[in-house]
Amino acid sequence: MNIVTKINDWQTLRKNLTGRSIGFVPTMGHLHAGHLSLCERSRAENEVTVVSIFVNPTQFNQASDFQLYPRTIEQDTSLLASHGVDYLFLPDAESMYADHYQIQVTETELSRELEGEFRPGHFNGMLTVVLKLLNLVQATRAYFGEKDYQQLLLVKKMVAALFLPVDIIPCETMRAEDGLALSSRNSRLTPEQRQKAAHFPRLLQSGQCAEDITKQLELLGFKVDYIADRWQRRLGAVWVDDVRLIDNVILSP
Ligand code: PAF
Repeated sequence: MNIVTKINDWQTLRKNLTGRSIGFVPTMGHLHAGHLSLCERSRAENEVTVVSIFVNPTQFNQASDFQLYPRTIEQDTSLLASHGVDYLFLPDAESMYADHYQIQVTETELSRELEGEFRPGHFNGMLTVVLKLLNLVQATRAYFGEKDYQQLLLVKKMVAALFLPVDIIPCETMRAEDGLALSSRNSRLTPEQRQKAAHFPRLLQSGQCAEDITKQLELLGFKVDYIADRWQRRLGAVWVDDVRLIDNVILSP
């Protein structure tokens, strides 16, 4: 696996990949089986697979969340190498934001609700970095997990609005045996919190109305940001103490 840390080096390497299909998996690291399944799908569908790891400072609306975000680069590197990834792109924040974030991507509707309401600025940061990464990698296909469903919709919307020449491929959420959606933040849960967290997907899938689910989650000690039905899905965001979890399930007709 080729590890590339400098944007210039990547741009030189990219020229030599002209004509080959490229699958791209953007990540913030601390990789789990969900990320690896995106890499496997990319490998099956493309000649070359590129993964980026960049803990994007502009999409964290709380400084503490950015600081506490787990960084496990050595472990991630060996996982990606053993999963046949061709290129690992590890840019640094100074080079990604040489403009000091003076140029931003803003979506003015969908980005204002649900996650956008509770995490002001989050989607600006996310869309801005995804646009930068898509421009750098120039992938044929880019793979996004459905766990961050609103993110996926916004990325698709940006790609359509800006005529970006890339196919966005949605990938189903991977879950632990007890149903909890795999997420890099799960590793911040203590064993007790982890046990409690499993009630969240169980209740989301229970078929009860959003208000009843909210009440039950609150009785169990969760702080609920929202449980809402949109886009034929039930989406939710909750706090287990200081760890925020998001998830969504398909609503049965
Ligand atoms: O989903 C994530 O891990 C991030 O939001 C992404 C797409 C890598 C952008 O930083």
